Amino acid sequence: MTSTASPKSSDILDRVLVMEMVRVTEAAAVGASKLIGRGDEKAADAAAVEAMRKAFDELPIDGTVVIGEGERDEAPMLYIGEKVGGAIGTGPKIDIALDPLEGTTITAKAGPNSLAVLAAAEHGCLLNAPDVYMDKLAVGPGYPDGVIDLAKTPTQNVEAVAAAKGVQPDEIIVCVLDRPRHADLIAELRGIGCGIVLIGDGDVAGVIATTDPDTTIDMYMGSGGAPEGVLAAAALRCVGGQFNGRLLFRNDDEKARARKWGIEDLGKIYKLEELAKGDCIFAATGVTDGSLLAGVKRRKDGSITTESVVMRASTGTVRWVKGEHRKPR
Ligand code: FBP
Repeated sequence: MTSTASPKSSDILDRVLVMEMVRVTEAAAVGASKLIGRGDEKAADAAAVEAMRKAFDELPIDGTVVIGEGERDEAPMLYIGEKVGGAIGTGPKIDIALDPLEGTTITAKAGPNSLAVLAAAEHGCLLNAPDVYMDKLAVGPGYPDGVIDLAKTPTQNVEAVAAAKGVQPDEIIVCVLDRPRHADLIAELRGIGCGIVLIGDGDVAGVIATTDPDTTIDMYMGSGGAPEGVLAAAALRCVGGQFNGRLLFRNDDEKARARKWGIEDLGKIYKLEELAKGDCIFAATGVTDGSLLAGVKRRKDGSITTESVVMRASTGTVRWVKGEHRKPR
């Protein structure tokens, strides 16, 4: 007898979605690539959003954007709560966290490391993080559980990671967003002799860099967007590593927004599994060249090349996907 039950989302994550997600990030990256180095952040973001929104229509899912371009009245497309997918009402219920263009300024200036990213998980498995700042602390794989702790000072965290790695604190390399608000953090890290990789933007790539020995980056520290924190956590769930995040609120309005999404403990330190739990998929396509992925290249013959990565938490499989997109004959 044929079952009429709709497929479990875990089956769909397994069989279809992993590769399909790459089409979505590829589309966003190609859309944004027309605007690389054109000095127009908004246009680059809008192109990525539009292309990603369209690509979702091809996916056999009943998707809900849980982290997106803002609230409904702020964003015309891919707003939080928007239903996406080509099987709304019939397909598996999948929650989506997305950032069609992570690094709008980077793209506008043709700098390194801008990405089109998304994470997909079963319904209820990704934290509905409001668009506020998040204090972030990450370390790559291979360390004992709990080696990092956001409740401790940066110095204590560096010392713990250094001890676990069997090196001195001054041999630890930390990636930090180059922002005036990080002046004290940077001074403290320099005080204990750490190497600091300062990045202009793009902390999803910054966090993921801790998982790649080639970058030599051991840890990520500092505040950035909370949505980007959830996306980075989803990636670390797939490749290993540890992450702590704590939401930061600048005013009562931001606190009210967090409560609206069901967050009561405003000072909570979230661990990896509390930001992205269960099975999840993380996909990213490079927009500009970076440490993780090469950017989109437009060739003379009209073809376009892309480089993407897609990973899945339950299997730990990481696939690197090179796309050659030719003009239809
Ligand atoms: P956008 O793509 O939205 O410009 O974000 C880039 C980014 O650098 C993120 O990676 C990071 O989380 C956030 O901005 C940091 O915010 P701010 O620029 O306000 O310090």
